[in-house]
Amino acid sequence: MRKKIVAGNWKMNTDYNEGLTLFSEVVTLVNAEITGSQTAVVCSPFIHLQSLVEKSKTSDKVFIGAQNAHQAESGAYTGEISAKMINSIGVDYVILGHSERRQYFGETNELLAKKTDTALKNSLTPIFCIGETLQEREANTHFDVIKSQLVEGVFHLDAEAFAKIVIAYEPVWAIGTGVTASAEQAQEIHEFIRKEISAKYTQAVADEITMLYGGSCNPKNAPELFAKADIDGGLIGGASLKARDFVDILKVFN
Ligand code: 13P
Repeated sequence: MRKKIVAGNWKMNTDYNEGLTLFSEVVTLVNAEITGSQTAVVCSPFIHLQSLVEKSKTSDKVFIGAQNAHQAESGAYTGEISAKMINSIGVDYVILGHSERRQYFGETNELLAKKTDTALKNSLTPIFCIGETLQEREANTHFDVIKSQLVEGVFHLDAEAFAKIVIAYEPVWAIGTGVTASAEQAQEIHEFIRKEISAKYTQAVADEITMLYGGSCNPKNAPELFAKADIDGGLIGGASLKARDFVDILKVFN
């Protein structure tokens, strides 16, 4: 179902105690100030997850996500964490295909297709990230890049499975740079993605998919971005590390 979601991606930030303090602040502010039907998702480092799940039970609007999961069900993959493990502690979401994982850990569309299958099989909702680099945009290949990320990463799913995922459009040039895509640029891509989904599946499936914008999103620019017809919320990096800013972004949907 199409939802309004603001997801925080904490990346590799906050030690355990800092993370718990930050999350407590988020929950307190959400419980006091969020009046709409929007959903907050906090994607923390793995070691925080179980404690955050427990704490999230004090709010019906806050859910927890991991930032990665392995493609295999289990096995000899030293240091890795499976979707089943993540699901077993009550986590609901998992970010897959973040550009930092594509860039620094060599994650390909082919690998991400497997990760998506395994996440869905283990009842996790993938927040599947796509987006072009600055070079690709300047070469005017951004639509092609995004289309191939969709086709190779998630279009193998049947309509029922596809309807369960969340898409996040994160132009790589806007991540952590302070440069935000304009609301028009973001809407243009979101509209394109929804059209591709409609062509592959049906208009009804396309209409139901929640699509987030990510890349230097903050309380100032969120209202204009979220007002666009095909933008259903945000995936927030830096600003999610400040409870006040994160909840102010969430409040755009009040
Ligand atoms: P920033 O909001 O820090 O640009 O990060 C965006 C992001 O990568 C969220 O996944």
